[in-house]
Amino acid sequence: MDSILVTGNGPLNGQIPIAGAKNACLTLMPATLLSEEPLTLTNAPRLSDIKTMTALLQSLGAEVSSLQDGQVQAMSSHDLTSQTADYEIVRKMRASNLVLGPLLARFGHAVVSLPGGCAIGARPMDLHVEGLEALGAEIELKDGYLHAKAPGGLKGGVHEMRFASVGATENIVMAATLAKGTTVLKNAAREPEIVDLVECLRKMGAQIAGEGTSTIEIQGVDRLHGATHQVVIDRIELGTYMLAPAICGGEVELLGGRMRLVESFAAKLDAAGVSVEETDKGLKVARKNGRVRAVDVVTEPFPGFPTDLQAQMMALMCTAEGTSVLEERIFENRFMHAPELVRMGADIEVHGGTATVTGVERLKGAPVMATDLRASVSLILAGLAAEGETVVSRVYHLDRGYEHVVRKLEGVGAKIERIKGQ
Ligand code: EPZ
Repeated sequence: MDSILVTGNGPLNGQIPIAGAKNACLTLMPATLLSEEPLTLTNAPRLSDIKTMTALLQSLGAEVSSLQDGQVQAMSSHDLTSQTADYEIVRKMRASNLVLGPLLARFGHAVVSLPGGCAIGARPMDLHVEGLEALGAEIELKDGYLHAKAPGGLKGGVHEMRFASVGATENIVMAATLAKGTTVLKNAAREPEIVDLVECLRKMGAQIAGEGTSTIEIQGVDRLHGATHQVVIDRIELGTYMLAPAICGGEVELLGGRMRLVESFAAKLDAAGVSVEETDKGLKVARKNGRVRAVDVVTEPFPGFPTDLQAQMMALMCTAEGTSVLEERIFENRFMHAPELVRMGADIEVHGGTATVTGVERLKGAPVMATDLRASVSLILAGLAAEGETVVSRVYHLDRGYEHVVRKLEGVGAKIERIKGQ
């Protein structure tokens, strides 16, 4: 397994391009199952999760070709041969469950493996099931698989989700596009990736209103047609790299960044003493003066502070002046980066869903282990500011969500290299 060697090397300066959003692409790709006409996505990120989704769609019989070295996904599900998403693929990536709604809507049946737990939590699918049952689906769990059917087709309905689940919102909205009648989905998730999905579905002929708010209304249509759609930029990659100049000093411009995608995150950085300025090319980020100040963080559904930036923010708070309390309200086990940061000299106490971080002047480089996607990049950020060398192992986690990390950070002056594993 490869690892990444980072050496603290002072302030960073320059520009970092931000790629298309992994979490948008992972819901846009299954949307191809809703139509027998081709769907083409541009600005797709080149990530292992996209390859996993490609393999899943191909296992159903869809044609998926990655053009222009992966930045374009041209897909067609004209001749599907299966409606079963196998455990072997789903267990590797939870987002595989996003084929459930589209398969059910287009074919009236689907068999999708439950994803099983992952490092950050149990991650059940009860909210997906409840929403699809509200559209008339009959779903039962057998041998670890959800067996879903809608013999007479799905019917629109009014449904209020118990929690604003991103994936459940995506599955229900995609299914509702082909249901008979109108669906009103309440307490819907408001993430920009959902807005991007709806914009793509609308290009395919879907009739949807309210995306980005808590109530989404879908008027079912008989069929959807093909489309071409550009994937929205990745607000989590954007937020991650905004933290690089925040933790190291210097000034970095994140190309493609837009403030609307990271409002609450940028507000926290501002309170910590980091300036974020929107330019015509992106977001320019710089530390206002010396050490950042400790700020408290509570993770919430969008537009609140994103759980996917909690680990990275913790790295910054490890070097802040004062004490910061980070509360993780979305996942039950998302502090696995904390003990690794403690190995680097951080002062962190974790009690249940709350981590109390007392900043230290400087972290010390150390060998550390990535435990999940966002933890991996949190350790790299810590290593950028630490004294000496940090080796982050198990970087296959990193490859799921960040393309060209070494090249992007080297480009702004970081001392970083990837070491090939044995
Ligand atoms: C999406 O996961 C993202 N993944 C996650 O990003 C992100 O952390 C999460 O939304 C929250 O923003 C993709 O978009 C591919 P949820 P998702 O359904 O849809 C519980 C990353 O790092 N829940 O909003 O799975 C669940 O256990 C990944 O890129 C139920 O209880 O998230 C969790 O505690 C990690 N029952 C909470 O809700 C359900 O049926 C949020 O889950 C569904 C979810």
